[in-house]
Amino acid sequence: TSYRIASIPGDGIGVDVTIEARKVLDAASAKFGFSLEWTEFDWSCERYAQLGSMMPDDGVAQLSAFDGILLGAVGFPGVPDHVSLWGLLIPLRRAFSQYVNLRPVRLLPGTTSVLSGRKAEELELVIVRENSEGEYSAIGGRHNAGRPDEFVLQESVFTRVGVERIIRYAFELARTRSSRVCSATKSNGLIHSMPFWDEIFAEVAAEYPDVHSEQMHVDALAARMVQAPDRLDVIVGSNLFGDILSDLAAAITGGLGMAPSGNINPSGESPSMFEAVHGSAPDIAGQGIANPVAQILAAAMLVEHLGETVAAQAIRAAVDRVLDEGRVRTPDLGGSDTTERLGTAVAEALG
Ligand code: NAI
Ligand code: MG
Repeated sequence: TSYRIASIPGDGIGVDVTIEARKVLDAASAKFGFSLEWTEFDWSCERYAQLGSMMPDDGVAQLSAFDGILLGAVGFPGVPDHVSLWGLLIPLRRAFSQYVNLRPVRLLPGTTSVLSGRKAEELELVIVRENSEGEYSAIGGRHNAGRPDEFVLQESVFTRVGVERIIRYAFELARTRSSRVCSATKSNGLIHSMPFWDEIFAEVAAEYPDVHSEQMHVDALAARMVQAPDRLDVIVGSNLFGDILSDLAAAITGGLGMAPSGNINPSGESPSMFEAVHGSAPDIAGQGIANPVAQILAAAMLVEHLGETVAAQAIRAAVDRVLDEGRVRTPDLGGSDTTERLGTAVAEALG
């Protein structure tokens, strides 16, 4: 089989880590008998500085025929963050109906975290974040500016279709894992949106009697994630709750350099997009010292999404072996090796 992959390295360390992820994917495809046909796009803040836009007007159309997208990161000092975000990431997520933001988290070997000392099996969970609606809405505004009674309104939008499909995705995913779903709510404080979310959660849960379901207020859930993460597996949350919980999860399992994510359209009718959770890290850009593991794990999610499960598992195992040995470590892992050395070590560990 041959797959067409679009690569958008973007800015800063996005470029460095994407080269390494591509190296690992090419090694994996050679070993596991499929081929990847890469097309690279220079869409970035650099392009914006030269041409006035992050991507061409027909950017969405150019990508629509690909089987998958590997994105580095976009954003760089001098270009406002809302330009890079709304000029590339958000239009792609929306045009391709990537309504699932999937963020798997594992305690990786050889890393220091507040959970060090625990066994890796104790922490393997996945956050299913709603990626298209909810709290991230432009509806609202500022009123009575400059007066003592000044106020703002910030509306959330939760649709039945939007809530039901993300919760159903979480239950289907749970069936392939440990059959447990926990929903993040806050229906004591948010008295319209969250009771609606909870009601739909209960309706969908009733269709999956084989899956254990529970719901927790998001504050208590955050505490449990730190204190008793072994009691969690699939966590489903709204756009805002999922965002916060997934950064927390990344932080407690080894840091941003290790956290992958996927923007997924489950129907497969348009391409899904995989990226590290981290950004372009201007503070270390151009030094060749970024940790490529997050992007390599994102690349593993990409091939898994294409159905190449064995290759995806082999890539994760190769990352674990290299981290466990601890011979090659970038500065964030306490070593002094380069991005290139760590990427090469993972590619070689594929055997
Ligand atoms: P960031 O994730 O780029 O960096 C935060 C801190 O973590 C920095 O100290 C950085 O050096 C470190 N770090 C991040 N990834 C690392 C890696 N792989 N290895 C070692 N250290 C790593 O977040 P920040 O600084 O808030 O944002 C920088 C730019 O990236 C901004 O323009 C922002 O808008 C953009 N950004 C883009 C994203 C995307 O393309 N999806 C996501 C997040 C931020
Ligand atoms: Mg990113």
